[in-house]
Amino acid sequence: MTEEAQKGGKGTVVLAFSGGLDTSICVPILKNMYGYDKVITVAADVGQPESEVKMATDKGNLIADKHYTLDLKEAFVREHVFPAIKANALYEGYPMGTALARPLIASEIAKIAKQEGAKAVGHGCTGKGNDQLRFDYIFRLNGLDIIAPMREHNMRRDWEIEYAEQNNIPIPVKKDTPWSVDENIWSRSIEGGRLEEPAYHPPEEIYHWTAALKDAPDEPEIISIGFENGIPVSLNGEKMAGVDLIVALNKIAGKHSVGRNDMVEDRVLGLKARENYEHPAATVLIAAHADLEKLVLSRFELKFKHIVDDQWAELAYMGLIHEPLYHDLGAFINKTQERVTGTVDVQLFKGGLHIMGRSSPFALYSEDLVSFDTNTGIDQRDSIGYSKYYGLQGRLLHQLNNE
Ligand code: ARG
Repeated sequence: MTEEAQKGGKGTVVLAFSGGLDTSICVPILKNMYGYDKVITVAADVGQPESEVKMATDKGNLIADKHYTLDLKEAFVREHVFPAIKANALYEGYPMGTALARPLIASEIAKIAKQEGAKAVGHGCTGKGNDQLRFDYIFRLNGLDIIAPMREHNMRRDWEIEYAEQNNIPIPVKKDTPWSVDENIWSRSIEGGRLEEPAYHPPEEIYHWTAALKDAPDEPEIISIGFENGIPVSLNGEKMAGVDLIVALNKIAGKHSVGRNDMVEDRVLGLKARENYEHPAATVLIAAHADLEKLVLSRFELKFKHIVDDQWAELAYMGLIHEPLYHDLGAFINKTQERVTGTVDVQLFKGGLHIMGRSSPFALYSEDLVSFDTNTGIDQRDSIGYSKYYGLQGRLLHQLNNE
């Protein structure tokens, strides 16, 4: 790390900025070690706590040559969360969040780089996770040089703190929790510290959105979610914009301790990692949406869509939003959503979620036909002939084997 040798001359770099220790020391590092003249920081508000957005904004304004804070909440929900709901998107069983937000953040940072005439972008990702890949992919697609100091120099925390002090970078107010948290409106993920031991029982303190089971209300609560073309549009009969609906539902379902995951996850690189998540609204909305699909889609559509959803989710997890297949699958998914309109009632109780009822003007369902109580529509005698030939091939083989 040759400090003065490279100083200056490289122009402007735009840095993805959270205000944490890593991305904060990247500001002087990009100048002193990489030779950039001007560092522009960009913080993205995707629904993390307001105090964090404010902290990043204040800090960026203080230490960078120029700072942007982008409110991406609405775009995040419209462009990434809604498609994920339509795709019932789960990765290895959990509703992903970080993966959905990174491509948007990176794309917006790339726009600012263009606007500011910067040829390079920086990020604070390490070399072990998925986020480096998701960021790099978008930045490379935009023809930008990528600087990732944390990944390039195996930095240690004590060195980082000393470097921050030497360069007058305010260190985040005594952050004595060992957890690494990534949060957006759709999901909160907690990793690091002792959570890295798969057998370690997570302490209650890691959860901020979901109540402990013992504190969840003793009475169940039934809520009603309205969908239009696969998108949630109302909560308990009240029309709501996406961001508001998700924020409200996170509170309601979180109170009932709905929406936690503790799991070992396969990262893109193949590393297995222990991950803890909370995502109350996502859990409820995906379950309700998938239930409504069962009412309105045909048996063949449902079967095929499972495969499509699964593949869509994997590409979304990898952040490959420019992969042609991602768009092909999206087109199929959108077509199926034309009939996914209706209402689903969900009961929340002590960490559990139960679908209580569903209705839709597009239900491929006839109470008359299926009912035990009526004899209209279907003449049961028609089934006698059908039944005669049912499983014919297996019966023939069975006969052959027993001759
Ligand atoms: N494992 C998840 C993913 O790759 C979440 C990572 C979030 N990062 C964090 N520092 N908690 O999408």
